Amino acid sequence: MIFAANFKSNHSRASFKEYAGILGDFWSEFDKKDDEIIIFPPFSAFCGCALKDKKISLGAQNFYPANNGAFTGEICADMLSEFGINSVLVGHSERRALGEDDEFVRAKFEFAKAKLWRVVLCVGEDDIVHMNGNTCEFLESQLEGIDLAYEKLIIAYEPIWAIGTGKSAKPEIIAEILEFLSLKTKAPLLYGGSVNASNIAMITQIPHCAGVLVGSASWQVQSFIDLIKASKA
Ligand code: PGA
Repeated sequence: MIFAANFKSNHSRASFKEYAGILGDFWSEFDKKDDEIIIFPPFSAFCGCALKDKKISLGAQNFYPANNGAFTGEICADMLSEFGINSVLVGHSERRALGEDDEFVRAKFEFAKAKLWRVVLCVGEDDIVHMNGNTCEFLESQLEGIDLAYEKLIIAYEPIWAIGTGKSAKPEIIAEILEFLSLKTKAPLLYGGSVNASNIAMITQIPHCAGVLVGSASWQVQSFIDLIKASKA
């Protein structure tokens, strides 16, 4: 299982150092088989910790698709490589809400692919698309122009209506969408949207589910540890 943690704009360098120490100790003792953790902290927390285990790594929540240049306020590839970052989130709904359209998402994907980075590509519909039963068509449009055979691609299905609400999508909905995605790509498929210690065991049993992308339930280290443990219960 892939346990991806999206910290969003939470954690300082100091608080993440403490978090990483506790999580690292837990992880070194954990009976991991194919399990892996990827944490997406804020950029400023990158140098706050040293992760020793190969099966736990850091990724970037965002980047501008250039090595460097005149892009005020952006973080580019040169800065990420200084921290050894080679996993990135692309297409998260909160970035899309800030103005990243499908074209820009594709440009970021292409750039990341050229860098051979691992890309966690987020797709997901809002409540209107969901209510109208048009989710598959919508996801299809979000995936247009994305190389679904890229070997370092991971796709996270994150329905916007489930993110941050405390209510994950029902298992049958997740199952239907992961089945649909699995017919299009061999990329590992994650689910994200209010995943927590109470629902993780049910979610990870869904066919084609290779892991989860966790927001709020990952921000406190004990909550994230409880979630990982509960996935095996
Ligand atoms: P959530 O966030 O777990 O708080 O719903 C998930 C995400 O935004 O990736």
